[in-house]
Amino acid sequence: MDTAQLVEESFENVMLRKDEFILEFYDDLFKMAPAVEPMFRNTTKEKQGQKLYNSLVILVENIRNPEAIQEILEPLGQDHVGYGAQLAHYPVVGECLINTISKLNGDQWSSDHEQAWLNTYQTVVDLMT
Ligand code: HEM
Repeated sequence: MDTAQLVEESFENVMLRKDEFILEFYDDLFKMAPAVEPMFRNTTKEKQGQKLYNSLVILVENIRNPEAIQEILEPLGQDHVGYGAQLAHYPVVGECLINTISKLNGDQWSSDHEQAWLNTYQTVVDLMT
């Protein structure tokens, strides 16, 4: 299976359990990086989680279309400068994201899925920063 297939396949389990994904992700993030929690004071986990989730859906839908991904993620990255996001924040967000996706995949998760998401997340970071 190639990266795109591995990402698509494992994301299906996220789409089936969206609410759990959102809550798990932010619980994990605020535990791992308490310093970022105040950055989200103008929103709620549910609202912000829905936006993050929507951007992941678009990412996965366009996983075979790098130009479309670039057009979306470059401006999103610019907006993040205004939100106070720094380069140093991206690794912990990636770790929590992949950790949460892996949990929702249970025993269907493999080291190939892990590697596919690590590669995909690196592409996202490269475009956003
Ligand atoms: C995979 C990487 C990321 C994705 C896909 C992502 C996605 C998003 C999206 C879609 C929004 C909403 C934008 C809007 O309303 O126009 C957002 C807002 C935000 N993001 Fe991210 N983000 C990522 C990484 C990060 C990182 C590393 C940080 C730093 C801790 C961060 C902090 C924030 C903050 C503070 C907001 C604004 C919340 C608010 O007040 O509404 N994000 N993000």
